[in-house]
Amino acid sequence: MGDVVRGGGSSGWLDAIGAPVSRRAALAAGLALAATPAVGSADDEPPALRDLAAAKGLRFGNAVNPRTIVGARGRLVTAECNILVAENEFKFGTVRPDERTFSLAPADRVARFADGRGIPLRGHNLFWNQPDYVPAWLTERNLGPRPRIALEDLLVQHVRVMARRYPRVVSWDVINETVVPETGAMRDTVATRLLGDRVLDLTFAAARQAMPRAELVYNDYMNWEPGNDPHRSGVLRVLEGMRKRGVPCDALGLQSHLAVPDGPPGSAFGGRQSTWRRFLKEVNDLGYRLLVTELDVDDRKAPSETARRDEMVAETTRAYLDVTLDNPTVRDVLCWGLDDGVSWLQGFLPRPDGRPQRGCPYDALLRPKPMRAAIAAAIRAAPARA
Ligand code: G3I
Repeated sequence: MGDVVRGGGSSGWLDAIGAPVSRRAALAAGLALAATPAVGSADDEPPALRDLAAAKGLRFGNAVNPRTIVGARGRLVTAECNILVAENEFKFGTVRPDERTFSLAPADRVARFADGRGIPLRGHNLFWNQPDYVPAWLTERNLGPRPRIALEDLLVQHVRVMARRYPRVVSWDVINETVVPETGAMRDTVATRLLGDRVLDLTFAAARQAMPRAELVYNDYMNWEPGNDPHRSGVLRVLEGMRKRGVPCDALGLQSHLAVPDGPPGSAFGGRQSTWRRFLKEVNDLGYRLLVTELDVDDRKAPSETARRDEMVAETTRAYLDVTLDNPTVRDVLCWGLDDGVSWLQGFLPRPDGRPQRGCPYDALLRPKPMRAAIAAAIRAAPARA
């Protein structure tokens, strides 16, 4: 279990503000070992999520960046995860700040961290076909007299450079979010305008050729909610089209940015579990497996009171994972940030009451929350993978 020492119980640990803290979090935070409680209470320490997952033929992981792989956070990630992904560092827009530059130092740092600990790494993403995330230099660039060929060359070269540099990446989000949620149509970007569906075909084909052993994934954030039907249908159309055209895509990434519901306890799925199950089955029937790529919970609809919020976040997580892990083709579950202190939710979806979002399994002081227990319970309840 990574660098976490076995033995000791959670009850004897106190953090800097006097709150109870698990042994794992305490070690991660570098608290004094002198505080170690009497040996013999090893059963109190919940097993690492990576170990629970491995026992079921699953992997548990997290999105990291150069700031979250150092110090206490780095130790926590090492203790809990057996798969990682870089939050931003492998993205086309990060790697390619301009036409000529490949900015790879931050991605190298994340890859070194994972490689150094023998933790498999996912790549996110080779091309994010969303107007906001296609860099302006590419959108505005004069691609010359044969723009289609110029763009194809650029994309293929990009894939080859990334494949050569990161040969140990086990799974790549090749294309990210190419479907408009409201209509299900392909997003309107310079790539779609010039290449249409071929942006998928050629990027996946280049990826397969450059890294034949890596899992190739289409990644998106469709869900089961009312009003999301066009998004799910659009994703199914993309997957079906790729199958028909022989595009080498292996899996659909379920981003899984969840939100606590408006309703009473137990209303996490609003009665739409069957919609989600059916969608997952339709994806499988097209010949794709599934993975949870970016799990977290937006708690803006939960009340301010911390304990109630944590409970709602945990319920939402458990309800989702119970249904999703029931699908045997799901073998990876990655969170999008292990602790609230580093979550994108804080900046992108701030709560109206000004309090920090609490949508990750650990709080900002690296204390485990009910969401961590919900993930552990859902993994324990999941059918074992063959
Ligand atoms: O790197 C610059 C830095 O130089 C600058 O000082 C700073 C000032 O704002 O910005 C930094 O870049 C930010 C980057 O995160 C790194 O912190 C970008 O502005 C910001 O847009 C970027 O946000 C990321 C977002 O994707 C867009 O790329 C989030 O961290 C990241 O969590 C989020 O992740 C996405 C997945 O890739 C796809 N699915 C949805 C998910 C959540 O939005």
